[in-house]
Amino acid sequence: MNIVGEIQLSVDSRIVILTGAGISRESGLATFRDPDGIWARVRIEDVATPEAFARDPERVHAFYNARRKGLLDAAVTPNAAHLALALLEAEWPGEVLLVTQNIDDLHERAGSANLIHMHGELLKARCLACGSASAWRQEMTGESRCPSCGETGSLRVDVVWFGEMPYEMARIERALGDCGLFVSIGTSGNVYPAAGFVAEAHHRAGAHCMELNLEPSDGASLFDAARYGPATEVVPGFVEDLLKAVR
Ligand code: APR
Repeated sequence: MNIVGEIQLSVDSRIVILTGAGISRESGLATFRDPDGIWARVRIEDVATPEAFARDPERVHAFYNARRKGLLDAAVTPNAAHLALALLEAEWPGEVLLVTQNIDDLHERAGSANLIHMHGELLKARCLACGSASAWRQEMTGESRCPSCGETGSLRVDVVWFGEMPYEMARIERALGDCGLFVSIGTSGNVYPAAGFVAEAHHRAGAHCMELNLEPSDGASLFDAARYGPATEVVPGFVEDLLKAVR
C-alpha cells in the first residue's frame, strides 16, 4: 500500500476520473452554470432536449454549430490539466478510466485513450434513419446528408440531451464498483447520474474520493479530500503526487 499524500492507495488500483466543463474552461470553452456560462445565455428547454429538437430543429442545429465552430478554433487546445490526465493514464500501473461529461475532444487531443464520453461528442453526428454515428466537423442543417445511408434531414448532433440516457453507463457502473480512487474535476455536481458517482465509488468500492475544482461543488461534502483552484494548477500537482508513489 502506498501513501500518496493524504491517500492510502495501492499502485495497481483502478482510478476513475470524472471531468466536467471546468477542466476545459482554461482552454477557452465556456462552462454551463458559471455566471458567464452557457445556460446564462440560452435555455436548456430551447436547445438541449428531444422536445426542443422536435419543435425547432434548425434552432438546435444552430446552437451546436456555434459550439462546434468554437471548439474547432485553432486557439482552443488541450491545457495542462488535460495533459496531466493523459500522463497519469500512461504512467499509472493500474487502469485509469476517464469519464467525461464534456462533448469537446480536448481529452483525446491531449492523449487520453481510455475515455468515455457519457454525454456524447460535439464532433459526431447520429443518423435517426440508420442509427449510425459519424465524425462531423462542419455545419449541420436539416439538409445535411448521412455519410452512412445517404438520407437527408435525418441527422442530429451525437450529444445526450436532458431526459436521455447517458452512454456506457454499465461500463461506468462496473468501474465505480471496483476502484481505489475516484477523482472529480471541474464539475458542479448538479447533473445526474454523474453527480451520483462519488457516492457509488465510496459505498460500493470504498474508494478514496477527491474533488479538484475551482470552488466547492454542490457535492463537496461527499468527498474525503479536495484541492481547490484552477484545473491547470491543481490537476498537474495532484497527478505528480500520485506518480511520485510509482516512480
Ligand atoms: N478550473 C477548475 N474548475 C473550474 C474552472 C477552472 N478553471 N472554471 C470553472 N470551474 C468549475 C466551476 O466552479 C463549476 O463547479 O467547473 C464547474 C462547472 O460546472 P458546470 O458549468 O455545471 O458544468 P458541468 O458540471 O460539466 O455540467 C454538467 O450539465 O448542462 C449539462 O450536459 C451538460 O455536461 C454538462 C452537465
